Amino acid sequence: MDRDNKLEHRCLLLENREVVPGWHLLELQAPDLVHASPGQFVQLRVGRLTDPLLRRPVSIHYAEPEKGRIRLLFRVAGRGTALVSGFKAGDNVDLLGPLGRGFPCLDEEEPAIFVAGGIGLAPLFFAAAQRSRVSLPFEFFLGGKSGSLLPPEGYFQAHGIKPRLVTDDGSRGGSGPVTALLEEYLETNKAPLRIHACGPGPMLAGVVELARSAGAAVHVSLESRMACGVGACLGCVYPFRSGDQVEYRRVCREGPVFNGEEVLFES
Ligand SMILES: Cc1cc2nc3c(=O)[nH]c(=O)nc-3n(C[C@H](O)[C@H](O)[C@H](O)COP(=O)(O)OP(=O)(O)OC[C@H]3O[C@@H](n4cnc5c(N)ncnc54)[C@H](O)[C@@H]3O)c2cc1C
Ligand code: FES
Repeated sequence: MDRDNKLEHRCLLLENREVVPGWHLLELQAPDLVHASPGQFVQLRVGRLTDPLLRRPVSIHYAEPEKGRIRLLFRVAGRGTALVSGFKAGDNVDLLGPLGRGFPCLDEEEPAIFVAGGIGLAPLFFAAAQRSRVSLPFEFFLGGKSGSLLPPEGYFQAHGIKPRLVTDDGSRGGSGPVTALLEEYLETNKAPLRIHACGPGPMLAGVVELARSAGAAVHVSLESRMACGVGACLGCVYPFRSGDQVEYRRVCREGPVFNGEEVLFES
């Protein structure tokens, strides 16, 4: 309880902007959260009183220590996120965090490859912006359903990110899965490379397979339904390979970022 109290923050909402249909960007005054690392998340209280009871996990999308601000980017997926989409500038937002472990080795010289599927770009944007700020090399691959459902180029350019895009309908970038971009890249660029991915499970499984073939290190950010968000309820466990054994780890506590080689993806 003590721990939760220290992690709980009431933050002033400065802006709630719909970036593309169904995706909202929240800008918050949150000086206690600005030193979070990319890949860490917050548990957001979505109801004014106790309904819905459970907070919702959302990645930290960007942090500006100099202004004491953070941003969250979320897709309206159901009741909880629909409620958050109605929050107004001037509201106080209750956040628990920063939680979990983020992407490792973001400050290493070796090229980093970010592979994002849809709203999976939320934590990877922060990671890429951090490398961009200190002029470390990286590539950013982004896949989505349709061009109009992904943020415009300016959204990325302001942070030194030039994503290579693919969409299911071919309306922006090429058409096809984002793993095809990674595959093409790995044909001509050899390890040592470090791949960081976030998106739907089947996409992550595909990224890990490609990384394995190319001998590249790979970390993935997993999503699982969460209750407490701080390691107490075991509601978020995921299976992992540990030698010959299957081991269950808590996404909220040991993750959400894990070594992709160890994750047992559903087949
Ligand atoms: C560590 C972590 C970081 C996340 N970061 C982001 C983020 O930055 N932006 C963002 O848009 N979303 C993020 N998510 C997913 C987000 O938490 C869910 O979309 C949200 O909890 C759905 O709540 P809801 O009440 O709107 O939908 P619900 O009505 O609860 O569910 C709607 C649909 O979403 C699915 N869903 C619910 N919870 C989750 C979950 N935790 N993970 C995956 N699918 C879920 C349900 O199965 C259902 O299909 C993150 C999840 C995790 C675990
Ligand atoms: S959500 Fe409770 S242990 Fe992870």
